Amino acid sequence: MDTNQIANSLLMHRGAEADLYLSQVGPWKAVLKKRVEKKYRQKDLDASIRRERTLKEASMLGEARKAGVRTPSVLKLDPEEFSFTMALIPGKLARDNLDTMKPGAREGFFEDLGHQVGQLHLRGIVHGDLTTSNLIISEENIAYMIDFGLANYSIEAEDRAVDLHLLKRSIVTSHNFGTEKCFKALSKGYTASLGEREAASVYKKASEIARRGRYFAIR
Ligand SMILES: Nc1ncnc2c1ncn2[C@@H]1O[C@H](COP(=O)(O)OP(=O)(O)OP(=O)(O)O)[C@@H](O)[C@H]1O
Ligand SMILES: [Mg+2]
Repeated sequence: MDTNQIANSLLMHRGAEADLYLSQVGPWKAVLKKRVEKKYRQKDLDASIRRERTLKEASMLGEARKAGVRTPSVLKLDPEEFSFTMALIPGKLARDNLDTMKPGAREGFFEDLGHQVGQLHLRGIVHGDLTTSNLIISEENIAYMIDFGLANYSIEAEDRAVDLHLLKRSIVTSHNFGTEKCFKALSKGYTASLGEREAASVYKKASEIARRGRYFAIR
């Protein structure tokens, strides 16, 4: 999509590093994510960072999809414009809708999400920014993961644990529902994907991270 097309598209979201536009590819509704210029960086360096991050995010989305994770498919890639276009996921942002979901549906959502995070980790990928702002609840109450801008290849328990920790923290800090059953459901799905032994070492690291967080919070 060139600059003219962007001018005709609807700005959906202005993020820290990117603008997102409602777009169209053939008959499909789509979302164009374009990384914006950072004036504080030297021009050439800024362009190469934005190109690289665009490529990386689009490729990570593709890799996650291959791992069986529900993510939007990448429809177009235009690194020279610092943008890529992905399928629009119809649904609502988890951040704004988890609280009003029926408890049973919410637990189902978390078990499936745990399963998907496990699949992602099994494939050697960590999301890096797994919060309820980066999850869409589809019309069938199923989780879609978006925003792979900080995703990386890693099989370290510590990196995997950061995903679980960020997710749980984003729930505890901004939601009102009883979390215990949902966290159990999340672990059930995660363990089923990753296997008991691997999952146990991730849970151990996640508890350490939570402990460290509390320690620094009270100092
Ligand atoms: N494929 C998609 N389908 C539907 N909505 C999407 C899609 N991708 C992104 N969005 C919407 O755009 C918002 C921002 O997208 P994303 O998280 O990828 O950008 P971001 O740069 O990380 O923004 P922020 O800095 O605010 O986190 C999402 O919270 C979501 O509401
Ligand atoms: Mg985001």
